[in-house]
Amino acid sequence: MKQIVLRAPGGLDNLALEDVAPPAEPGAGYITVRLRASSLNYHDYRVCAVEGALPDGRIPMADGAGVVEAVGPGVTAFAPGDNVVSVFFPDWQTGDDRPFNFSTTPGDGRDGYAREAVTLPASWFTHAPEGWSHEEAATITTAGLTAWRALVVDAGIKAGDVVAVLGTGGVSIYALQLAKAMGATVIATSSSDAKLERLTALGADHVINYRTTPEWGAEMQRLTDGRGVDIVVEVGGPATLAQSIVAGRPGAHIALIGVLTGRAGEVPTAALMAKQQRLQGLIVGSRQHQLDFVRGLNALNLRPVIDRSFALADLAEAFRYQESGTHFGKICLTI
Ligand SMILES: NC(=O)c1ccc[n+]([C@@H]2O[C@H](COP(=O)([O-])OP(=O)(O)OC[C@H]3O[C@@H](n4cnc5c(N)ncnc54)[C@H](OP(=O)(O)O)[C@@H]3O)[C@@H](O)[C@H]2O)c1
Repeated sequence: MKQIVLRAPGGLDNLALEDVAPPAEPGAGYITVRLRASSLNYHDYRVCAVEGALPDGRIPMADGAGVVEAVGPGVTAFAPGDNVVSVFFPDWQTGDDRPFNFSTTPGDGRDGYAREAVTLPASWFTHAPEGWSHEEAATITTAGLTAWRALVVDAGIKAGDVVAVLGTGGVSIYALQLAKAMGATVIATSSSDAKLERLTALGADHVINYRTTPEWGAEMQRLTDGRGVDIVVEVGGPATLAQSIVAGRPGAHIALIGVLTGRAGEVPTAALMAKQQRLQGLIVGSRQHQLDFVRGLNALNLRPVIDRSFALADLAEAFRYQESGTHFGKICLTI
């Protein structure tokens, strides 16, 4: 079978396609999955693009979707033919014992899903949403679950809330769709007027160009008649957090998710305190969160926005496309 590995010292030019033996038959508690799709996240890009981030020979990609080919003794949750999707933290099944790094994440601390088949513990997967393509299903592992966790698990979104989403990457578009499906008002930002039009077409109630309106927090205050937004899906990090605090109402929930503008910076702590806002860091979620998310998706009329799909062998090209920032929503791999 084919797989992609990242050769030392890393960097997109060192992604190599290999022929290897197919995985072993599944033992007790294991399943064999014929992988059909993956999806690209900023995290996958970073660990492949930054030299030295991954060890020699690591198989990249955290997201994997496909079909169960065989189940080992004792597996009752899945049967051959089931469509499944991988989980981001295989060792975080449920509860509050949260991981705080990527040492157990496929495609980072262990091998990921840029390959045609795997034999792994059944608990590393959940069922895919019903009727979804493999490309669509692959988008739930990282981007989708992060948006769900931020809005539903941590912020407790309810109909009538006003939600701010920043930019048009995978997490933000999912957050827009979920928030709209759950009865919220959405204010969305982008650096591109053409993308703002697409955000409106997807259901955004208000859109702001964050390049031409750098004080977009004040604009969100204006759009909410001075009340402020209830939830901010904060994917920018240090260069956007101050505006997110301005945008939020007193008591707002700010889901601190992203590092698009850097990994450290100044935080206006006094403003955060005075507005009594909650700043909640998060990394994706547990397998139980994903089970709840899939159940939610089966009840909602929602499909992820896939910008473009590439073949497995073209992973480097797919990452370069992601690097260009021209995408809207998810970029996928078809395996
Ligand atoms: N903590 C977690 O669990 C978790 C999970 C998933 C992702 N993340 C993080 O969340 C971030 C987004 O991930 P992703 O996979 O959705 O990325 P992505 O698909 O690569 O998103 C890129 C988009 O972000 C937007 N952007 C860039 N700079 C921005 C800024 N200053 N203000 C607002 N938007 C900006 C751009 O939108 P426009 O072109 O429209 O301007 C760009 O197209 C990344 O930092 C990633 O590491 C964290």
